[in-house]
Amino acid sequence: MYYENAQAAYSAGNFPNAKRNFLLAAETMYKLAKMSTGNLQKSRMDRAKRLIEMAENIGKKPIPKVKGPEPSEKEEDTGKQWETAEIPNISFDDIAGLEDVKKAITLRMIYPLKYPDKYKTYNKKTGGGVLLYGPPGTGKTMIAKAIAYEVNAKFYTVKCSDVISKWVGDSEKNINSLFETAKKDDLAIIFFDELDGLFGTRGKDIHNDKRVGEFLQQIDGFSGRSTNLLILGATNRPWDVDKAALRPGRFSQSIYVPLPDEKAREFLFRKSLEGVPLKDVNIEDLISLTEGYSGADIDELCDRAKEQPLIDSIKHDSIINITMQDFKYALKAVRPSVDKESLKEYEKYINNLG
Ligand SMILES: Nc1ncnc2c1ncn2[C@@H]1O[C@H](COP(=O)(O)OP(=O)(O)O)[C@@H](O)[C@H]1O
Ligand SMILES: [Mg+2]
Repeated sequence: MYYENAQAAYSAGNFPNAKRNFLLAAETMYKLAKMSTGNLQKSRMDRAKRLIEMAENIGKKPIPKVKGPEPSEKEEDTGKQWETAEIPNISFDDIAGLEDVKKAITLRMIYPLKYPDKYKTYNKKTGGGVLLYGPPGTGKTMIAKAIAYEVNAKFYTVKCSDVISKWVGDSEKNINSLFETAKKDDLAIIFFDELDGLFGTRGKDIHNDKRVGEFLQQIDGFSGRSTNLLILGATNRPWDVDKAALRPGRFSQSIYVPLPDEKAREFLFRKSLEGVPLKDVNIEDLISLTEGYSGADIDELCDRAKEQPLIDSIKHDSIINITMQDFKYALKAVRPSVDKESLKEYEKYINNLG
């Protein structure tokens, strides 16, 4: 299982995840080796060592060809450009910080479903899609899933960049069938990830213009009519989204998802390090050393810091604590992925929304 996960992560280019899974596969293999004897034990030990080598070499050596179809080929087999998930199991409690974001979403999307009568009484506006925007790795995809969990909705993801690269021409047909499918659910969320890819600003390319027009029509046709369908979008590049997509009835509310503040970073560290063997690791220091890091960066940082102690603990078959030294090393390797310049772009965008 870990091995398959590692390979999948590898082909998807997610090296930290691949590494972690190779190590977990190695650990499992060691345990199996210890339960066996003779040749079997020896071959399992060898395999475990090879797995550690693979983990250690990720990012250093050229990528070995992995067996099995690439993820993109699999998608093409099914002829679909969207993924279905049953109700995801990420809740608001798993999300660090973003209190304002959670509040806005609760009022806009969750309460209208839970307390429809109250909304009627106050004649409070509901409906319309929400667009989450902000730097990469801040939890936009996570929030989208958490919303589905909070309201018990089936969750459909459209990776907009995939739609464009692979399905020029067929896009409209596919999106149409997605809406038809989602409408049959009791409650469904269609999540347009990387929305800028789908609703690019018009006037630059005729294919894009045609597509934007047709998708907007789709959304107009369904929003308002079906109360059991919620539309969510996310983008790192809000300025590249066609303004027409932000009109009432479409993605009528935009919500900024910022980098994690101190409290959110503390939450992320505590979650990642909970129950893990530590020695002299000062979380306060880590919080101040990671100003400007995204949630995804902090995930990767912790992952890096765990690597060497994990490898050593496998090699010596004993528990090796993670130390501040491991974090110092990791901090050098994992730099903030969002630079100051792009943060300014967001500020500019927010001010222009006015
Ligand atoms: N606010 C957050 N709370 C908890 N985890 C987070 C948060 N932001 C980022 N992460 C971590 O980073 C990963 C990537 O986040 P993701 O939701 O895909 O970011 P985005 O969609 O904004 O690019 C998540 O799977 C999670 O592990
Ligand atoms: Mg995302």
